[in-house]
Amino acid sequence: MSYTVAIAGATGLVGRTMLRVLEERNFPIKELKLLASARSAGQVVSAFGKEYIVEELTEHSFAGCDIALFSAGGSTSKQYAPYAAAAGCVVIDNSSTWRMHPNAPLVVPEVNAYALEHHHGIIANPNCSTIQMVVALQPIHEQFGLKRVVVSTYQSVSGAGQKGVDHLQAEIQGKEPESRISTHPLAYNTVFHSITDASGFSEEEIKMKNETRKIMNLPDVKIAVTCVRVPVLGAHSESVNVETEKPMTVESIRAALQGKPGITLVDDPINAVYPTPVAASNKDDVFVGRIRLDDSVENGAHLWVVSDNLRKGAATNAVQIAESLVAHNWLRFEPVEQW
Ligand code: A2P
Repeated sequence: MSYTVAIAGATGLVGRTMLRVLEERNFPIKELKLLASARSAGQVVSAFGKEYIVEELTEHSFAGCDIALFSAGGSTSKQYAPYAAAAGCVVIDNSSTWRMHPNAPLVVPEVNAYALEHHHGIIANPNCSTIQMVVALQPIHEQFGLKRVVVSTYQSVSGAGQKGVDHLQAEIQGKEPESRISTHPLAYNTVFHSITDASGFSEEEIKMKNETRKIMNLPDVKIAVTCVRVPVLGAHSESVNVETEKPMTVESIRAALQGKPGITLVDDPINAVYPTPVAASNKDDVFVGRIRLDDSVENGAHLWVVSDNLRKGAATNAVQIAESLVAHNWLRFEPVEQW
């Protein structure tokens, strides 16, 4: 079997990575439709040894498509994903629009592929920082029972798309950026995502908390989050502190993580062997290291978790969802009346 696949946002950072990941993983493509805004219509893109012409995304773009990977911003997903689902095309959406919608599964295949079985045509790809954290947390939860997580992120600028990369690179070159993702300088600085909630939390922090609970099916797990943007081009790092029901040792944590799908242990700190964003870039795994016990609580440990936010944090996870749907024969779905 092969499938007609659309990428909405094909000219963006994540969209281009989706295309590369589909190629690398040899996804069975019958036809490919590359969609973007009217500004990009007519652009020529090479993929799968052919040339494709980018088309303008419209509500009619999805006729005959089996799968649409969306990464064109939240408002675009909100507007167009329901048209795709109505045309019988399964949407895997990278924006935050549908993530907490009760009819949309929010999936990281290593954690909750089962949630794909009864989807209704729109599947949400989680937030990049959440994806890498839950991949590392799930084996710990299974082995020791997760009680509380305290996470601080060190997020790269590519999480804000091409604009983020352009902003940092311009400042490093001593130029004024054409557009900015923060009112503060990014170069040689650390900044926060925009804080729009009266609680004082950024949306990114709220997303990590809510999405982790939904993906891991742990509605009451305690999570404390601080999200920080650092002047790194690609790959997010996270300091993840866990408190568990059962006692842990460094060796038992390593044993729980070792060999688990999507995880690579990089943990020989005496020899300066630990995950870094530079080493994790362009890779699909979640890299875990600096495993230490936290003696400030009864059963606590520290982990350092690093992954490429454009790949496992976005494109690779979306393609893995598509692969899982295909492998289980779960592309067909019962539509909902209204999204
Ligand atoms: P375009 O390149 O034509 O603007 P990034 O996250 O790197 O900024 O990329 C965003 C992606 O979403 C791009 O492919 C962009 O297309 C696409 N996009 C943004 N707004 C729209 C829209 N209204 N309709 C279709 N595609 C859009």
